[in-house]
Amino acid sequence: MKDIHIQAIRVHAYGGSDQLRLEEVPVPVPGPGEVLINIVASGVNPIDWKVREGLMQKPLPYIPGVEASGVVVALGEGVTDKKVGQAVYGAVDGSYTACAVAPGERLFPKPLHLSFEEAAAAGGAKTAWGALFDVGQLTKGQRILIHAGAGGVGHLAVQLAYHAGAYVIATSAAENAGFVKSLGASEVIDYKTAPFETQIAPVDVVLDTVGGDTLERSYQLVKPGGILLCLVKEPSPEKAAAAGIRAVWAGTKTLRAMQEVHKLLDKDLIRPYVRKVFAPLSSAAAAQDYSQLGGPGKGKIVLKIEE
Ligand SMILES: NC(=O)c1ccc[n+]([C@@H]2O[C@H](COP(=O)([O-])OP(=O)(O)OC[C@H]3O[C@@H](n4cnc5c(N)ncnc54)[C@H](OP(=O)(O)O)[C@@H]3O)[C@@H](O)[C@H]2O)c1
Repeated sequence: MKDIHIQAIRVHAYGGSDQLRLEEVPVPVPGPGEVLINIVASGVNPIDWKVREGLMQKPLPYIPGVEASGVVVALGEGVTDKKVGQAVYGAVDGSYTACAVAPGERLFPKPLHLSFEEAAAAGGAKTAWGALFDVGQLTKGQRILIHAGAGGVGHLAVQLAYHAGAYVIATSAAENAGFVKSLGASEVIDYKTAPFETQIAPVDVVLDTVGGDTLERSYQLVKPGGILLCLVKEPSPEKAAAAGIRAVWAGTKTLRAMQEVHKLLDKDLIRPYVRKVFAPLSSAAAAQDYSQLGGPGKGKIVLKIEE
């Protein structure tokens, strides 16, 4: 298979989206425990443009993308729970390509009721699950504020928190309020027309997926003894101590989070929404620009690679 070449997007130098080059690369070979998949769709995440700009670094050249859906083509040694021809989705490092290998344990059978695009948009759920439950220990009856309730992570966090029996408050643009309410938020705060902190009574938990000024203004909203979870940067221990709360970076991605989220997706108890689909693979730059510039919509951006 090494002699067969496929198309992939590669980055050879950090910079703008013009660094995303469509190239021919050899088909990767699955090692022990790995699965080779034909990728149908890749999720497009903010981390993709952050790494491309060099804000986080990877050895160059690299293929961008961290999650995908597709069809199993070959199994590495020791993989017994997947079958060639099976539709799967999950964590795939280097997913902007026609074919990639991934650890078998991080791929799950694609639920029949989800399209390949929707399955490729599900990754925010494991991030949200890890933050809410592994780190935040969110429980039934607690009040939680979720920033960016219409975003790739936020729209799944709202569903997970609602499903766990929490009272969910979320921020979003006014045009997304109906969508975020439909996911389970009891209150949706339009963060653009008035400061959100003037519109919300204190909560037990804040999940911040925005950072910057939003993080700075969130400490005051957490009840004493509560927790502020941030996915964008390390919160300030001094500000947390002054407010009498805990504030932590909550970006864990445990295998357990993936397994728990898969069960919920499979039972259709949570659902990923697709903000916009870009196709074909050569439109990767447009997809990353849309993500970086905050293109409108609800849910996750997806790059469609193969019909
Ligand atoms: N640490 C980790 O493990 C991890 C994992 C995943 C993501 N992240 C980070 O989490 C952040 C969010 O990721 P994502 O995939 O959810 O991003 P995203 O889908 O690009 O989020 C965009 C959303 O943010 C909303 N938004 C923008 N500014 C806002 C503000 N000031 N207040 C409230 N909402 C605002 C927009 O909603 P409206 O249109 O409604 O304004 C839009 O829906 C990124 O920085 C990402 O890098 C971290």
